[in-house]
Amino acid sequence: MKGVDIFEERTVCVPQPTSHYAMVVGVDGRFLGSDDDGETYVAETISDNLMWRVRGERLEHAQTSVVLEMSTAEAGRFQLSVDGIPLDADGRRGPNGSPYSIVHGPERLPSEYLQHLTENGWVCLAATLSPEIIDSLQRIACTDGYADQSPDRSQRQICQNSALAKTAVEPISVWLARQYMQTDDIRLAHSPGIGVMTPDDGQRVVQGWHSDYPYHWGINAAGKVPTPSGKTVMGVQRIVCVSEFTKYRGATAFKLGSHALDHGPPEEWGVARDAYQPGHRAANGLPYNGPDADVIEAPPGSMILFDTRTWHRAGINRSDQNRAAILMDMTPAYIVPYSDTTGDYRALVENAVYDELNEREQHEFQRLMIHRFLGPAGPQSVIGTDQELTANIPLTDRTSY
Ligand SMILES: [Fe+2]
Repeated sequence: MKGVDIFEERTVCVPQPTSHYAMVVGVDGRFLGSDDDGETYVAETISDNLMWRVRGERLEHAQTSVVLEMSTAEAGRFQLSVDGIPLDADGRRGPNGSPYSIVHGPERLPSEYLQHLTENGWVCLAATLSPEIIDSLQRIACTDGYADQSPDRSQRQICQNSALAKTAVEPISVWLARQYMQTDDIRLAHSPGIGVMTPDDGQRVVQGWHSDYPYHWGINAAGKVPTPSGKTVMGVQRIVCVSEFTKYRGATAFKLGSHALDHGPPEEWGVARDAYQPGHRAANGLPYNGPDADVIEAPPGSMILFDTRTWHRAGINRSDQNRAAILMDMTPAYIVPYSDTTGDYRALVENAVYDELNEREQHEFQRLMIHRFLGPAGPQSVIGTDQELTANIPLTDRTSY
């Protein structure tokens, strides 16, 4: 019997931050920090030591009493100094000053996000992308301020501007995924792409409840994880809210904390494999949308990270506006990728947009996008699809395995 669509999920409202930390980026993309003794240095690895506050012409360290003086060095960059002594490219005091950029940082300390993620299996980094990146992503998506424009189908999204690749290597979220999965060897399971959800028409097929790749519980897919994985975490999904996420505009619905159950969603909630059956919505209504589910509402530029075991489903966009988001499932290097990432990697590297990424960002993009065979001798050949074999070998009916 068809249920009633009540949209009574519990709303978890993540407000627009009133302030952000600043991060200080050297010419090669490494971040300036200060250790507990007040010694400045540059590093790639994220920690609370890399967080600063801008106070007029000064930078105050978030953890120590270190204060840096800023003076304009070149367009968009600053010379930093301590007691009149400039900082060099390694963040040390010395005669050869080096320019630094001040960039939009997170609302909270990295360790605070990690604690929330570890304790709850999810975390939201509110509006953690800069306004410039958000604007560029909305421009690719043709949503929000660009709703009257048409998407550029002539080239891959990743090459349309540098914002998508810069979002993929956003340092705090990638660090959180590494920490949560307990390995530095993580990959993007698929290429980053912006998805646009159009307003619901009341009839279309909608996604049912499921767990994401590689678990794929609730989904009719081959290769899903057959048993609970316990402390071994095989995926962290990262949803980037390109548009504002509200329940009315189709924000993702979750059963927050369900990762800890280590099994898939209940059949009676309307799982994905059933929701795709013809006529399912007309006969059964929407998947479960009652008060035992949760919807995270968050401002544009937010990143929602969750253990991919967490039960969730796409929201229902009841507004009259399109809503854009990016999904970026991150998996340990030992998991087979969800799709071939080499095409987008190669296209970006060969595009002029690639030069807008600094050295750290280029290196991180390669680490995340290039899958390799692993073995005792270390990473080996790059893994990609074999087009000829793909074309010539027919797919095997899964039921005949
Ligand atoms: Fe999903």
